[in-house]
Amino acid sequence: MTASVANPVYPVVWRGDHVELIDQTRLPQQFSVVEIRRSEDMATAIKTMIVRGAPAIGVAAAYGMYLGSCEITTDNRDGFLSELVGVGNQLKATRPTAVNLFWAVDRMLKVARQTLGPISQIQDQLLTTAQEIGADDVRTCQAIGNHGLSVLPKDPEKLCLLTHCNAGALATAGYGTALGVVRSAWTAGRLARVYADETRPRLQGAKLTTWECVQEDIPVTLISDGMAAHCMQQNLIDVVVVGADRIAANGDAANKIGTYSVALCAKAHNLPFYVAAPLSTIDFDLADGGGIPIEERHPSEIYQIGTTDICPKGVEFYNPAFDVTPAELITGIITEHGVFAPGDIREKLSHHRST
Ligand code: MRU
Repeated sequence: MTASVANPVYPVVWRGDHVELIDQTRLPQQFSVVEIRRSEDMATAIKTMIVRGAPAIGVAAAYGMYLGSCEITTDNRDGFLSELVGVGNQLKATRPTAVNLFWAVDRMLKVARQTLGPISQIQDQLLTTAQEIGADDVRTCQAIGNHGLSVLPKDPEKLCLLTHCNAGALATAGYGTALGVVRSAWTAGRLARVYADETRPRLQGAKLTTWECVQEDIPVTLISDGMAAHCMQQNLIDVVVVGADRIAANGDAANKIGTYSVALCAKAHNLPFYVAAPLSTIDFDLADGGGIPIEERHPSEIYQIGTTDICPKGVEFYNPAFDVTPAELITGIITEHGVFAPGDIREKLSHHRST
C-alpha cells in the first residue's frame, strides 16, 4: 500500500491496474489515497476503516475479489473457484455488520461460477462486475436522494436535518444515502442546514460528514451525540435521516452506535425519522434485527482520545460499533425503489433482490 494525493469525489476508484481508496482515517486533516493491488490489502483497508460505510465496503470487497482472482495461479477451473471462495472468506471476515460486504462477495462468486471459458475470461467478468457494482451504487444513491426529497416534510420550506455518522459519498461509491437526501434537498432549495452528530467513538460525523458538507458549501452544525435531544427540544431539528448497515426483513435497522438513541429522541419529539439505504443493505434472510451481528471494536476507541487515556486503569469496556433501531421507530425506509413503511419492505421489495 502506498499513499499519494488524488481526486476527492469517489472513495473507491479503479485505476487500470489497481484500486485507489480515499484514506478516510486521515480526513479532514489530510486528503490522501491508498493504492490497493492485492486482496489481502483490501481486507486490511476494510478492517482498519481506510474504506468504511456499508455500500463503499461492498464496492471495495468486489474489487478485492477481482484482485484476489488475479493472484490465483492454477488454471484448473474447480481449483480456481475453490481458491476464490477462500479470497471471499478472507474479505468477509473483516467486518460483520454491513451486509453489503457479504452481498458483494456472494455476487462476485456467483458471476465466477456462471462464467464459462478460460480463467482469464472469469477474471475479466469479475472486473466488469466490480465496476458495475460501483456504477450502480452511484445511480442508486441518486435515486435514494430523489425519493428522500419527495417525502421530506413540506413545512418549513427550508429544513434543518439531523444525521448520525457518515452516510455520504465517502460511505458509498459516491453521492451517499442519507447525504444523498441532503444533496438532493440542497440542490432543490429545501435545506437550511445539516446538524451532524459527532458520532463517538470514531467521529465519522465530525470528521467526514462535516467535511463533505464543507466541500459543497452546505451549511453544517456539528454537535456532540448527547446534544441531539436538546436540539430537538429547542425546535432546531425538522427531520432525521440516517443510513443503515443492515436492515432485517421486518424493517429493524442496524446503523452506527447511537442511532437508536437518536430514533428514541425523534419519537419523543414527534419528528420524522428516515433510514436511507439501498436494496443491497436489506437482509431478507433475517426475520428481525435480533439476528444482526454487531461488531465490537477495540476498547482503545473509547478509553483513549488520540493517544491520551481518558479514564483510570481498572475500568472495564464495552465498544459495540452498531445498534439496532426497531422498525416501530422508523417513519420510512428510503430506497432506490421508493420509500416504504418498514413493515412493507418484505412484501414490496424482496422480489427486487439480486445477488
Ligand atoms: O463503522 P462505519 O463507519 O463503517 O459505519 C458506517 C455507518 O454506520 C453508516 O451510517 C452506514 O454504513 C451507512 S453508509 C451509506
